Amino acid sequence: MIKKCLFPVAGYGTRFLPATKSMPKEMLPVVNKPLVQYGVEEAIEAGLNEIGFVTGRGKRAIADHFDVSYELEHQIAGTSKEKYLSSIRGVMAKGQFSFTRQGEMKGLGDAILNGKRLIGDEPFAVVLSDDLCVTENEGVLSQMVALYKQFRCSIVAVQEVPEKDISKFGVIAGEQIKDGIFQVNQMVEKPAPEDAPSNLAIIGRYILTPDIFDIIEQTPPGKGGEVQITDALMTQAQKGCVLAYKFKGTRFDCGSVAGFVEATNFVYKNVYFEE
Ligand code: UTP
Repeated sequence: MIKKCLFPVAGYGTRFLPATKSMPKEMLPVVNKPLVQYGVEEAIEAGLNEIGFVTGRGKRAIADHFDVSYELEHQIAGTSKEKYLSSIRGVMAKGQFSFTRQGEMKGLGDAILNGKRLIGDEPFAVVLSDDLCVTENEGVLSQMVALYKQFRCSIVAVQEVPEKDISKFGVIAGEQIKDGIFQVNQMVEKPAPEDAPSNLAIIGRYILTPDIFDIIEQTPPGKGGEVQITDALMTQAQKGCVLAYKFKGTRFDCGSVAGFVEATNFVYKNVYFEE
């Protein structure tokens, strides 16, 4: 079944400058935990223990975060502060971490294509860690893995968004085959509100079948001159089947300052507990 999860983390994070000048956006903490750790915990909860990162320049802090810090371990071993390391130790005990680089920032599709050498020929998940998802029970990836077992095709997570925000997303249209599950027949990246085929926007959780790599290779740059995963998925939907899934839970857009602040307040009030 699905064992691997890819994290494209090569982006510049310009919306958070100057904070992201020398620090990866994915390492910004929501309360006491870096954004990327929330995503990795969600993957591991879904049984995806092989974690692959597609990184770029200036992202070494991410690799260090998922590696042992001997000096720190030595300093705080046996003290009352050791408890603060428990969550990252749990992640490190369960996950295996691999890294590759995206040479040039040519878009999310291109970043995913760079992950091919970590994934090989098997279905895999993709997480954009700037979308922080909070759920009451099962995580969003767990929900999607269960769906994959049933349908065995690529799946994108979607949510309804207001018309004024639609142009920030990839948007789908499709035929509802079950409550909250759509067979996709149209997909548009960042449409003008009048061109949007629905109000169902793709968020940063995907399950992809490996034929997507060949499709991305054949996909020309689209919106913004970038190779768009949305365009590749549209081709895949025309050839076979792509599902859109209205996930259960709340998603925070931590790639924007407002969404990041909202997530911080929510996590502090509802999720965070002092270990
Ligand atoms: P964003 O559109 O949020 O871009 O990318 P960004 O550079 O991270 O942030 P801003 O817009 O400059 O503030 C969505 C996700 O896709 C990854 C990013 O790291 C982010 O997780 N990405 C995007 C890549 O890894 N490579 C790319 O070429 C483009």
